[in-house]
This record gives sequence, C-alpha cells and structure tokens, in this order.
Amino acid sequence: MEKANPFLGRDVVSILDFSREDLEYLFKVAEVMERFRRSKIEILKGKVIALAFFEPSTRTRMSFETAAKRLGADVIGFSSVEATSIAKGESFADTIRMLDAYADLIVVRHKFEGAAKFASEIAVNPVVNAGDGKQHHPTQAMLDLYTVKKMFGKIDGLTYAVVGDLRYGRAATSFIYGLTLFNPRKIYLVSPPLLRARPEVVEYLRKKGVPFEEVNALDEVIEEVDVIYVTRIQRERFPDPLEYEKVKGSYRITLDLLSRGKEHLKVLHPLPKVDEIDKRVDNSKYAAYFEQAANGVPVRMALLSLILGAELGKVGADL
Ligand code: NCD
Repeated sequence: MEKANPFLGRDVVSILDFSREDLEYLFKVAEVMERFRRSKIEILKGKVIALAFFEPSTRTRMSFETAAKRLGADVIGFSSVEATSIAKGESFADTIRMLDAYADLIVVRHKFEGAAKFASEIAVNPVVNAGDGKQHHPTQAMLDLYTVKKMFGKIDGLTYAVVGDLRYGRAATSFIYGLTLFNPRKIYLVSPPLLRARPEVVEYLRKKGVPFEEVNALDEVIEEVDVIYVTRIQRERFPDPLEYEKVKGSYRITLDLLSRGKEHLKVLHPLPKVDEIDKRVDNSKYAAYFEQAANGVPVRMALLSLILGAELGKVGADL
C-alpha cells in the first residue's frame, strides 16, 4: 500500500474527525469493495465485530452486519435494548467494557448524544458511531457523500438542498458537516422555522465560510439545486408531542416540484421515509435513495477493513 492508512485503529465519532483526503481514500477502497457485494472475502477472518444497537435500526445495523460477514468477520451484539433499561450511565459503561473484552471493534447506536464518544473513551478497541441521538451519524454521511461522488463524479461545485428536520436529524447534520470538508457551490438549509439547523451547525458553516442560506420551502430554490437531501421528521426526538403536531406533514417532495428542477437532479434520503416523498418519485430518474442505501455495504466494508488493518492488497486494492 502506497499511502498510510488514515483509519487504522481509529474511532469514528464524527465525520469531522476526518479530512477530505481521508474520505477520498475510503471511497477508493469502497469502489474496490463493490466487486465483492455478492461474495465473501476473508480479509477479516478471525475478527469479531460487536453491534451494540441501543436504539432501533434496520438499514444501518443490517448493512454493518452484511459488511462484516462479507469480509469474513464474526458478528455479536443486540439490536433492540429498550433504552430505559440501560439509562443509567454505569450500566452502559459496563456493557461497553464487556463488548470491548469480547470484540475487536464496537459499533454503537444510542438515543443519547455523546454515547459513542463516551464509549470510545471506555473501550480500548475502536468504536464506530452508528448514530447518537440527534448529534452525529458519520458512517451515513460517508455513504451519502460516496453516493454523490458516484452519481456526479464529484462533490465539489454542486448546489445542495438539505430538506426537512435539520433540528433533530443526525443524518442531515452529519451530511452538512461532511459537505464542509469539500467545496460545495452552495448549501440551502430548507426547513420550516421550527426545524431549523441547530445553532452550532449554522455557526460551524459560518466559521468555515461555506456558502449557505436558510429557506422555508424547496420550491424557492428548486431550479438551482443539483442534489436534494431529504429527511423525515424525527418524531421520537421531539420533547413535546404538540410541537410535532405543528410541523407534521409540513413538506412533501412531489414529481411536479422536481420536474421544475435541473435535468440531472437527484434526491437522496437516509431512509426510513414516511410521507415526505411522494411514492411516485420512487420510480423516477430523480430517486437515488435505494442505490444510496445499497452503497452502505461497500462503504462500511471499506471502513471496517481499514480500521481493522485488513490486507487490502489481497483484494486487488491499489492505493
Ligand atoms: C437515519 C437515522 O437513524 O438517523 N436512518 C439511518 O440510519 N439510515 C435517519 C432516520 O432515522 O430518519
């Protein structure tokens, strides 16, 4: 391998832990992994990966599991511990300590912000954040950016609209942070006023000098954008159900709206989607979200093998 592996032994807590060069390196490996989407390569044979999902998940957990298995690793863990039973900080710490003793890498999802960071401080082995509350979802951002790169051949110079629940949505937040590592032409933050991006996110964009603008509705900017990143309203994270009632159903992406946009316009969504995208969009040229979800496997295969120092020469990766 030419270049030193920037992921070796690292924790993945936030997308901002990494540089643009690191992500480009990851994407190169992910491209190689695409060849093994339907087969098994044994480059992580003998490794054990723990999936500690304290909060429900379908795609993220199953794509980590698929990635680990395709690489020949064994998987342990749990997928639905009721958050209330582990609410005491100490039992969470003990669970992590135990998994650290059993496994070579721990993937953690939790409803509390900071849980993955906390786990990474306890565990000797690498910890990968698979979503902590409303805060971060770095591996989602990695596959989202990889999807843009695959579809447009670049991430720079495009205009993005990040639409929906920017206040409680960790996938949207990590995507926005991820874009700051590149040179987007402009990012539109599109949401009803109640669901605006959190002040620390807006502040970060300002500090980095990224061109951005907050708008209320997608139809204000539809003609300008290349990529629309839609998210669902994160109902379960609202402290007050009445507040949810106020914003429920407040935005919807339809074919009519999209047909006013650019010819090559693509719609991404981390999924699950509820009612924010009209079903007729699913079979249109705009929908990129199913391919995006599929990209979760090669990107996570790349990430796991890099962190655990797999021998990539064996799979023909020329880095
Ligand atoms: C996202 C999540 O869990 O944050 N889903 C995912 O990981 N693909 C987005 C969401 O739940 O809305």
